[in-house]
Amino acid sequence: MLDDKKVPVPGSFAEGAHVTAEEYEERYARSIADPEAFWAEEGKRLDWIEPYTRVKNCNFDLGSVSINWFEDGILNVAANCVDRHLETRGEQTAIIWEPDEPGDAARHITYNELHEQVCRFANVLKSQGVAKGDRVIIYLPMIPEAAYAMLACARIGAVHSVVFAGFSPDALANRINDCGAKAVITADSAPRGGKRTGLKSNTDAALLHCSDKVRCLVVKHTGDQTTWIDGRDVDVLSMMEDVAPDCDPEPMGAEDPLFILYTSGSTGKPKGVVHSSGGYLVYCAMTHELVFDYHAGDVYWCTADVGWVTGHSYILYGPLANGATTLMFEGVPTYPDAGRFWAICEKHDVAQFYTAPTAIRALMGHGREPVERYDLSSLKVLGTVGEPINPEAWNWYNEVVGKGERPIVDTWWQTETGGHLLTPLPGATPLKPGSATRPFFGIEPIVLDPQSGAEIEETECEGVLCIKASWPGQMRTVWGDHERFEKTYFSDYKGYYFSGDGCRRDADGYYWITGRVDDVINVSGHRMGTAEVESALVAHRDVAEAAVVGYPHDIKGQGIYAYVTLMNGVEPTDDLRAELEKWVRTEIGPIAKPDLLQWAPGLPKTRSGKIMRRILRKIAEDDAGSLGDTSTLADPDVVDDLVENRMNRK
Ligand code: WT7
Repeated sequence: MLDDKKVPVPGSFAEGAHVTAEEYEERYARSIADPEAFWAEEGKRLDWIEPYTRVKNCNFDLGSVSINWFEDGILNVAANCVDRHLETRGEQTAIIWEPDEPGDAARHITYNELHEQVCRFANVLKSQGVAKGDRVIIYLPMIPEAAYAMLACARIGAVHSVVFAGFSPDALANRINDCGAKAVITADSAPRGGKRTGLKSNTDAALLHCSDKVRCLVVKHTGDQTTWIDGRDVDVLSMMEDVAPDCDPEPMGAEDPLFILYTSGSTGKPKGVVHSSGGYLVYCAMTHELVFDYHAGDVYWCTADVGWVTGHSYILYGPLANGATTLMFEGVPTYPDAGRFWAICEKHDVAQFYTAPTAIRALMGHGREPVERYDLSSLKVLGTVGEPINPEAWNWYNEVVGKGERPIVDTWWQTETGGHLLTPLPGATPLKPGSATRPFFGIEPIVLDPQSGAEIEETECEGVLCIKASWPGQMRTVWGDHERFEKTYFSDYKGYYFSGDGCRRDADGYYWITGRVDDVINVSGHRMGTAEVESALVAHRDVAEAAVVGYPHDIKGQGIYAYVTLMNGVEPTDDLRAELEKWVRTEIGPIAKPDLLQWAPGLPKTRSGKIMRRILRKIAEDDAGSLGDTSTLADPDVVDDLVENRMNRK
């Protein structure tokens, strides 16, 4: 049984760690007993222009949900991430940038340089009319300018919304329009794994669907030719040379929004998750320091993309608030070969390495040799995020990468939570492979019975995972739709934050995430709403109906399985299949492309017309033997056809 395998904290590790086992118990108890006092103290991690006098003012009651932390405090996030370090570590590297091509030179950007670049970028934004409270879309590759752009927005009080460079023009346009962005910041093109994506041309296509007032700020990164629209397009880098090298940080309220990040939900339209300035930064600084046991001088590397929340909290904001050296990698784990991650760890003496189970599984397939080629002795802590890590991947990570001596922090959290909620602390928590272990300070997880909604008091149990009370990093609202915020997270289980995940709690009080309980699937650690893929499919003229479910996928964790019913008279051909796949890529982006697409003459429905997803999931899992009761179906015969022509035969 997995639960029996407890991996102790390595002896040498506990000594120098920020938090030991005893300290964890004591501080955790204190954080729950008196959150006001606890967070009043932790808030001092930041520099405040005006200190807060009120700490926590939160309400989880449906109809009046409101979340406020440090609400009368005034601060500037960029000043906390940059300016306040200049005196003590101006010449220390803030960002190490490793380009896609291993032969190209890495860049080391000191805090002094970062300060100047951020100020210049901020002045470019101002020159384009961007002011406090305005929204700015950032659609950039993993380059230092992405960090400058985010911090420049924070410096002048503009709200950024980073759109992952893998999203399509349509997805980009929807986000620009939803938040009413004044400007979009992009690059000519994005190199990744030796290939290039034309970001500027994608942006041009997106802007056809947006107000013609939206400015387009272009970072000429690769030098690739692009179209240029005078009066709309701005050459950022050349302009940065002309503007002043300093820019006063705007004083911001703790509750002023810092950023919006769009994420998929169980309905078709992605929602704009809004994060705050003060509470968010306190929470990601604290978790970054304690969960990775970050010490001054360590080189820290999170392999995520800044287009996801992991990149926001744990490439940029958390590490820089702590004055860390954070590594940013433009490329992919397997280019030019499967040793790239480890080559980078060796080259830059990485101490903390944070990645996703899907990357570990992909690399596992290449064997030990690409790892063993490199000296990984600088590594101290390994981390994972995005989905439950399976024992094989955990063991490989532990033995082959960590040589059995590095704690692995399996961090459970979400775009909505801003930072880690369930996680080991490396010097304090004995590990269990596959478990995100125990709550971080201030977090009160509870397990509810999915039917009755009642709290399950027994330690050992299984149910839906909710959080009892607010924490500073929690999202504040859905952009432009507070009602949707309340409905999504506070209406199914009254009085609690509902995570959308199921979990199991074992006899030691350790949490095991069992996956989403809603119609969201987790593809390579990225959240995908099945409804979103379905609405893309039915937008095609030949498609009458579509249903999308997840199925187990060796590398991605879950793959996308689409059942498609065509319009009367349309022939199901391989060409059409390819066309539909391409269609979804253009509507949403490559990450949403179905892995398997089955032609469905009909979909199994109840007599009231509701699609029976449970049955579609079973067929997609090649588990037709346990379809359960199909007698309530309007037309039970369609199931036979679907089973017979299933795509995922083991
Ligand atoms: C969903 C959130 C938070 C950054 C990455 C994804 C799943 C995340 C874990 C983990 C098991 C995990 C959950 C969660 N998830 N981390 N360590 N163990 N599951 O952010 O796109 O907001 O997705 O990812 O299902 O709800 P996201």
